[in-house]
Amino acid sequence: MRDQVIAGFRSRFDAAPAFVVRSPGRVNLIGDHTDYNDGFVLPAAIERATWIACAPRLDRRVAVHSAERGLAEFELDDLQPTSEWSDYVAGTLVELDIDLEHGFTAYLATEIAVGGALSSSAALEMGIARAAYELAGTPWDPVAAALAGQRAENDFVGMPCGIMDQLIVATAQEGAASLIDCRSLEATPASIPDEVTVVVLDTGTRRRLVDSGYEDRRVACERVAAALGVPALRDATLDMVMEANLDEVDRRRAIHVVRENAATQETAAALDAGDAVGAGRHMNTSHTSLRDDYEVSSPALDAMAEIARHRKGCLGARMTGAGFAGCAVALVATDRVDQFVSETAELYRAATGNQPTLYPTAPSAGVGLV
Ligand code: GLA
Repeated sequence: MRDQVIAGFRSRFDAAPAFVVRSPGRVNLIGDHTDYNDGFVLPAAIERATWIACAPRLDRRVAVHSAERGLAEFELDDLQPTSEWSDYVAGTLVELDIDLEHGFTAYLATEIAVGGALSSSAALEMGIARAAYELAGTPWDPVAAALAGQRAENDFVGMPCGIMDQLIVATAQEGAASLIDCRSLEATPASIPDEVTVVVLDTGTRRRLVDSGYEDRRVACERVAAALGVPALRDATLDMVMEANLDEVDRRRAIHVVRENAATQETAAALDAGDAVGAGRHMNTSHTSLRDDYEVSSPALDAMAEIARHRKGCLGARMTGAGFAGCAVALVATDRVDQFVSETAELYRAATGNQPTLYPTAPSAGVGLV
């Protein structure tokens, strides 16, 4: 891919790039819809990434050519939302606390399916952020960049996401997942035992989060936190949620968040103790909770998780990310991965008629120059 974006840059702009950035997607092992409740998440960066070849220019223009989506051009002094993919680029440039003196030219290509719940948008934002720091000669500040990327989504794109995706893409360490406290933004590496492998299970279904029920869920959580008199659902206990006078749907949303927060911390502890069986069990329970209480799964995600978890060597499987469509994730005994992938794909295809893509991934490093 590195050679490919360098070649793409040369043929598109008739010049050589100054540097190349690799910005990975992410898969979340457990802890979904907890980040905007100041809670815990356990994601890892994946091997698939967005690659950006970049060079400064003398004027204040930005020209970004996406291999998949074509050319977008704008002026640094006039960054406005256009409802196009390039809003992730322009929004990040607006929100970064960096003054670029000159514009830049970039050629990018991605291995991350768009709308597939692997954070293609955060990969693009953090890739552009990393490039901007390089262009400005400013020392890389992953947390500041992640917060800028989140503001770009919230305020420029109009997607009220939490901090998980940008933070893991900015800070991931090769070989480990990260237990992230989304209140303190502290990330602790959680090692994955060698005998198990993370497998991404793409259902072949897609969604646009801006149109989904994501915002409704977020608003419901804030409503419950206010009713309970706590700053965020991270501070609520199950007893508080069960005893309060709440709308029954809101109560189920809050039950998911409170349980998922505890399960996420327990999963990280289980992995660190080498207890992949315990971790897998939490992943299965989390899927049920996202399906029944939080109601963000889909028939395709349910079919994938269900089929996967009954295969030999599978310790746990669940939808990952926001939900509604896209990918699930499984923890699988390393010596069973090949058989797991072929059997799950075949049974899923037969059950749903959708074309899945399943692949193992090692936890990769976060965004960086390569
Ligand atoms: C999306 C958002 C994240 C997080 C997940 C659900 O990926 O961007 O902030 O809320 O959904 O866990």
